[in-house]
Amino acid sequence: MADRLVMGSYGPATYGDSIADVYDDWHEHVFDTPTTVDFLAELAGAGPALELGIGTGRVALPLAHKGIEVQGIDASVAMVQKLRAKPGGEDVGVTIGDFAAVDVEGTFSLVFVVFNTLFGLLTQRDQVACFANVSGRLTSDGVFVCECFVPDLARFEGHQRIAVERVEVDEVVLETSRHDLVNQRVRSTHTAVGRAGTRIYPVEIRYAWPSELDLMAELAGLRLRSRFSGWNREPFNSASTNHVSVYEKA
Ligand SMILES: C[S@@+](CC[C@H](N)C(=O)[O-])C[C@H]1O[C@@H](n2cnc3c(N)ncnc32)[C@H](O)[C@@H]1O
Repeated sequence: MADRLVMGSYGPATYGDSIADVYDDWHEHVFDTPTTVDFLAELAGAGPALELGIGTGRVALPLAHKGIEVQGIDASVAMVQKLRAKPGGEDVGVTIGDFAAVDVEGTFSLVFVVFNTLFGLLTQRDQVACFANVSGRLTSDGVFVCECFVPDLARFEGHQRIAVERVEVDEVVLETSRHDLVNQRVRSTHTAVGRAGTRIYPVEIRYAWPSELDLMAELAGLRLRSRFSGWNREPFNSASTNHVSVYEKA
């Protein structure tokens, strides 16, 4: 199975379906989720809110617990099953599908896509379509919030990268990547080696610089309202490695 995934049958559900069993454990200490949720709750107002790539509900569930109606889209049934198993998980409306289409009913005061998930759309065309479709689902004063990394080409040497991602007493996780500079694509594999054997988790992305995202927003009739380098509203500058961007109707 893992070989087949790595050999090229990668689709919208591949990442989630392969990582669902370990996603929450691996990311438990990576995020400051309460700060993310506070930031989003303030923008959502009375709601409703829509998350693209809702996953296991890391952000959506605490947002819903604040009393905001939250819906989500995800391609991976395995990830959504993890969400469903959590308290309140049955109450969140989830559409299974590719979030490029934003194929849901109604309008939202907040649409958001966090943790680089926008880059899970693997072509510029799909990312442009996503912005346009989000724009069509926003209320007149609604906002679209994206959290993405700022691309860093220095990560790659000779268009490839190998790094030790995590070392535990009984498991090591390696990241290996191939970089396609022209198409802004990265094909990676996280390989976990430990007592349970070797497991392979593929992930493919198409990255974009903030300026390209702003152009996609403009094509969609949106404009940048604010940009921070983190959820605590830290200033964004040329040293920033991440951005939280808030788009509104132009
Ligand atoms: C990195 S996880 C983020 C999950 C959650 N938003 C969080 O922050 O913990 C990315 C999620 O997006 C989903 N995803 C990736 N590409 C997708 C696509 N094209 N359409 C729908 N879901 C997609 C994956 O299945 C996964 O659940």
